Amino acid sequence: MSLVTVQLGQCGNQIGGQLFNTVVEDAYGKGGLGCSKKENTLYQDAVLERFFNTEEPSGETRVSCSQQVLPTARAVMVDMEPKVIQQTIQESKKSGKWRYCEKAQFCQKRGSGNNWAHGYGHHGPKARDAVMDIVQREVEKCDRFGGFLSLMSLAGGTGSGVGAYLTECLREEYPHSFLVNQIVWPYGTGEVIVQNFNAALTLSHLYQSADAIIVFENDNLHKICSQLLSIKNISFQDINSVISQELASVLQPAASVDNGRTNSPGELLERLVPDPQYKLLNVRTIPHTSERALAFSSFTWPGLLKHLRQMLIANAGMEEGVDWQVKVHSRDRRLSSADFTSSLANVLFLRGKHCESTDISPFSDPRLYSSWVPRDAAFSVFRQQRPFHHYEKYASLLSNSQAPVGPLDSLVGKAWNMFASRAYVHQYLKYGIAEEDFLDSFATLEQVISNYSNL
Ligand code: GTP
Repeated sequence: MSLVTVQLGQCGNQIGGQLFNTVVEDAYGKGGLGCSKKENTLYQDAVLERFFNTEEPSGETRVSCSQQVLPTARAVMVDMEPKVIQQTIQESKKSGKWRYCEKAQFCQKRGSGNNWAHGYGHHGPKARDAVMDIVQREVEKCDRFGGFLSLMSLAGGTGSGVGAYLTECLREEYPHSFLVNQIVWPYGTGEVIVQNFNAALTLSHLYQSADAIIVFENDNLHKICSQLLSIKNISFQDINSVISQELASVLQPAASVDNGRTNSPGELLERLVPDPQYKLLNVRTIPHTSERALAFSSFTWPGLLKHLRQMLIANAGMEEGVDWQVKVHSRDRRLSSADFTSSLANVLFLRGKHCESTDISPFSDPRLYSSWVPRDAAFSVFRQQRPFHHYEKYASLLSNSQAPVGPLDSLVGKAWNMFASRAYVHQYLKYGIAEEDFLDSFATLEQVISNYSNL
């Protein structure tokens, strides 16, 4: 099963480059020492099939990173200015382990100026035909096409505006394919003055066209880098390493405990999005430790899973500083919805030695889940005995839960206030967006907030 990744704007391209690095480092790194040669080869082949094209145009086949011809990322690079795409391609060359197909890129000369409407109303339609041709070529290279993974930020103009537009085009041209969008939530303090407009417009559009939206928050990632990885001057590269690791931990090959199926997008969406009104997902992982510190750390499965469960119910983005006072109550005893974070569905990924013998029953506690989801459908587990990246044991939880409600509520509130004063609205209207489009977006997101609040 193969994924075609669509990298949009500065953020999407930078994360894409890092994601491909991470999956290759994982597949060809230390993890292989923790399993048999045969298991390792099967894993590496599955990673190649999932993320890379190993066919030369001439028909020559490459099967290993150690051979001279490198695997080519199944990626489409889109930006409205060339700089970031060029840098990302240069970085990939430095890795010496994989490469981009330089023909699979689309760029223009000028960015979207952090204006969603410029991206959505102007650049998007102009880029459509060329980008869809590249996409089609990438899809045709897959023997077993499993869906699209689009990477983008919410706050700029290209990732958000062109990204929202192209996701609609993908939905139109590939109506039966799975569309998963990974989005980066801007810093609360805000580098872009109109970020709440851009974010609200993007999210409301993606809500109509994507199958699932995986949310990463820059504020939370920043805390992981400073508090857990002890990084001093945190760069986007550091933050993107964390995103890539978390994302790879749910996308790298693993098998379902119930039926042995692999974690294809279709399989994950079936388990996580039982109703299209609820499609906001987030990932929590444990542990976050630098490679150097790992040599002095030891983790047990019960310890990791106890923390991960508490992170889920207390809505904590990382293991440090989790509020242990938050407890799960049965529904009739729940005092308010703020009590603990309720879920619609969770998928747990366990990677590393002896992961099959650990007790996962605390995650299937029915009190964690909304009452209308059938008990056996709300929680599933995928396992992979091969250690992940440089971790002996690694656990990840991909959740459809109430976690995004707080940030979404605050974002819509700020966007409303700015709209009420009509600040910057004229800059959007000149690219063909009407005031009603803002109002429709706010209404869509208010509905999402209300649905999740009532879980
Ligand atoms: P234009 O610049 O308007 O053409 O759009 P763009 O989509 O290229 O903008 P960009 O992706 O830079 O969007 C800005 C938002 O993305 C801000 O919230 C930044 O914090 C965030 N951002 C930019 N680059 C990165 C990155 O590499 N990683 C992360 N995590 N966030 C990024």
